Amino acid sequence: MAGIYIHIPFCRSRCHYCDFYKTLDTGLAENFIESLLLETETQKNYLDNEFVETIYFGGGTPSVLGHKQIRKIMKKIYDSFDISKEAEITFEINPDDAGSFYLNGLAREGINRLSIGVQSWDDNILKFLNRRHTSEQAARSISDARKSGFNNISIDLIYGIPDLSEKVWQSTLENTLKKDVEHISAYHLTIEQNTRFGNMKEQGRLQEVNEDISEKQFKKLVNILVNKGYLHYEISNFSKEGLFSKHNANYWKQVKYLGLGPSAHSYNGYSRQWNIADTEKYQTSINSGIIPFDSEEINEKTKYNEYIMTSLRTMWGIDLEYIEEIFNKEIHDFIVNNATRFINYGMLEKKDKKYLVLTNQGMMISDNIIRELIMP
Ligand SMILES: C[S@@+](CC[C@H](N)C(=O)[O-])C[C@H]1O[C@@H](n2cnc3c(N)ncnc32)[C@H](O)[C@@H]1O
Ligand code: SF4
Repeated sequence: MAGIYIHIPFCRSRCHYCDFYKTLDTGLAENFIESLLLETETQKNYLDNEFVETIYFGGGTPSVLGHKQIRKIMKKIYDSFDISKEAEITFEINPDDAGSFYLNGLAREGINRLSIGVQSWDDNILKFLNRRHTSEQAARSISDARKSGFNNISIDLIYGIPDLSEKVWQSTLENTLKKDVEHISAYHLTIEQNTRFGNMKEQGRLQEVNEDISEKQFKKLVNILVNKGYLHYEISNFSKEGLFSKHNANYWKQVKYLGLGPSAHSYNGYSRQWNIADTEKYQTSINSGIIPFDSEEINEKTKYNEYIMTSLRTMWGIDLEYIEEIFNKEIHDFIVNNATRFINYGMLEKKDKKYLVLTNQGMMISDNIIRELIMP
């Protein structure tokens, strides 16, 4: 079982919060596709012939691509790897790119899951974030996606934004429920360096929201979505029964994946590697036969720490039997000892005698708990 991630590094403008790798030079797209196809061909043995169960087009903005370009990429991937007939194939779209014509085409090219960057249902907040779309466009993108036959739709939301009032957050969540989407990712705003918000913070023109507000908004998020029947399966992710993101869940389960495109990461069980985050250098290098990446070997400690950091954030939690089997008794005892006081404080609970899972209270301080459970 394996996954493929394709990074489409183009955006039409920069959102004030975002530090994902991207270029605004969409004119590079046509040549970029040719390099991407070359990289795919070169990397066709990376997954050791494992069956590919998930494909994910992320960015940047995959929806800057035209149908023909997507068809070329899909064909190359299907020619190079064993793709499961039931593969989950996700495509991130920005609401301002999504019209019926475009969405019909995506469905025809084999995309069966959409992740739509709604972010907010409030036009003032959208402007504050420097999004290109309006809430009306976002609503239309969902209804058009339904008409095109998509029955697995995820939307992204952001909270913890300065100026996001309780009232607006409440109505954002209520509006989200009305859309009845299968999956919701809701991220607390992180103010990243070298973004517009990062610069504003440095100049004292923007302040992060305080912990009380963050906590209140997180609680509201969880209460409203869980009451409506969504499964809170990862700190930032909610889904209808059985419709969690298989692609992301596989990252958390340490399944192998191949990342294609600039800045994309890959993992094969022994090492992690990441491509250069520069589209022009990526193309020049690939075209001369060299994939431009850095890598690190994954030793036992790193593998353990990554497992803790990802699995504890999920509703499945940390599997203590897996720890003993994959690592050793010493590591097993280390985590059991360190987890005890969090269990006593009601921050962690033990399920089925072998899983360590965060309680709702524990989720508020998950970073602190993780810090105590990883190996120094
Ligand atoms: C990198 S974007 C790509 C998707 C697509 N281009 C879009 O904008 O909708 C993936 C998601 O990460 C989230 N995100 C990116 N930067 C963030 C930040 N600094 N804080 C919180 N969420 C962030 C946003 O919700 C965004 O939709
Ligand atoms: S959030 Fe999406 S559209 Fe905005 S800059 Fe980041 S990748 Fe581009």
